[in-house]
Amino acid sequence: MQAMFKNDNFVVLWLRRVAYRLWQFKQTVLPRLDQSEWREAVRGFSQQLREHLNALRKSEKAHILRVYRAICADSQFVGEQRKEVLQLALLHDIGKAIIRSSVVLKVARVFLPIGRNDHCIAGARLLHRNGFDRKLVRRVLRHHTFEHDDILLQKFQQIDDSC
Ligand SMILES: [Fe+2]
Ligand SMILES: [Fe+2]
Repeated sequence: MQAMFKNDNFVVLWLRRVAYRLWQFKQTVLPRLDQSEWREAVRGFSQQLREHLNALRKSEKAHILRVYRAICADSQFVGEQRKEVLQLALLHDIGKAIIRSSVVLKVARVFLPIGRNDHCIAGARLLHRNGFDRKLVRRVLRHHTFEHDDILLQKFQQIDDSC
């Protein structure tokens, strides 16, 4: 009996995972993007940075806006932390405008545990060159790494992964 429950749990967890992956896949293939919301969100950045952000794919911009919205609606972030994490939301994947993954690789990443550090490095370099705060640069660099003790980054990663 006990073993059966364990199996049931495993199946439920596995189905949830598959459902989530399919949702992610749909967001990648058929993204919905509110252009005016996007323009408004990135308005505060320099023109050069906006050009990079605007060069992202539609699905990437839609993901960034989902992360941004989730953080806007999250009352655990207040004051300076809120500003930092909102900036991180808008900039964390900017490296994807420099490092282009093929569509095959993007689809494979939905289903397989393939590393994705290349855009973290490219994004961190770009932001460092643009004079951004060291803390932000480090967070962009490590946003797909889980061996660290940066609590704010851990909270951000949970949101990033669910969007
Ligand atoms: Fe990323
Ligand atoms: Fe992301």
